[in-house]
Amino acid sequence: MEVIIRPTTETATELTAQLIAEKVKQKPSLCLGLATGCTMEKVYDKLANKHQKGLDFSLIRTYNLDEYIGLSPENPNSYRYYMNKHLFNRINVNLCNTHLPLGTAEDLELECKLYEESIKNSGGIDLQLLGIGRSGHIGFNEPLSALSSRTRDKALTPVTVAQNSPLFDPPESMPKRAFTMGVGTILEAEQVIMLVTGKEKAEILAKAVEGPITSMISATALQLHSNCTVIVDEAAAANLQGTDYYRWIFENEPKWEPYR
Ligand code: GLP
Repeated sequence: MEVIIRPTTETATELTAQLIAEKVKQKPSLCLGLATGCTMEKVYDKLANKHQKGLDFSLIRTYNLDEYIGLSPENPNSYRYYMNKHLFNRINVNLCNTHLPLGTAEDLELECKLYEESIKNSGGIDLQLLGIGRSGHIGFNEPLSALSSRTRDKALTPVTVAQNSPLFDPPESMPKRAFTMGVGTILEAEQVIMLVTGKEKAEILAKAVEGPITSMISATALQLHSNCTVIVDEAAAANLQGTDYYRWIFENEPKWEPYR
């Protein structure tokens, strides 16, 4: 795992978007794992800007981490709606190549099985983008999610409901269950980038990156991944112990030179 500290949310977000853009240029048919949440909106703004300047997304394939159970794609609170609004409708991706579990699927188990099969048949995820929830979840892998878990439906914790329900009107209408890729599914991505910004994430980030691996905080499983970069701003880095070392890496490793 590498931790890269950038001075501001803006520079952390820009670095994340740059790394994604580089990957798309290197492999136009990139299979991209995508996340939702406020943190990602800024990344998608930047990718849309890069598309305006010529970045071609026509051949990419995408798989999102999660979707609320019971919400249709047309529901403004569904993650399908979020993705269309914040990214897909602003770039030239072929919508047929964008995938999220269907929130209104009748057979939940079958939907999860088909999602896993689809990822596998696509050749697997090349680059998975992640945020972190306040409960330490990645996707909706809430505390005690098995570190080998696969795509499944999961009950959301009160912490997650408290974090996300203000986006719903009324807040009580927020679904209490969601489909999520499993921790095991996420760990199979070839490369992972987790973006974490803001002081309210500082405590959970330090546990996720520097604490012991535990299913109580599913993001700690990323310590098992051999190609995982965690990009943070100064505010989110506030509780980290190893900041001198992380800063040294960014300033001295040749691979980071183009981004300094
Ligand atoms: C949701 C998503 C997560 C995301 C998290 C963080 O819970 N399921 O994938 O990481 O939100 O959201 P925010 O960026 O708004 O803090």
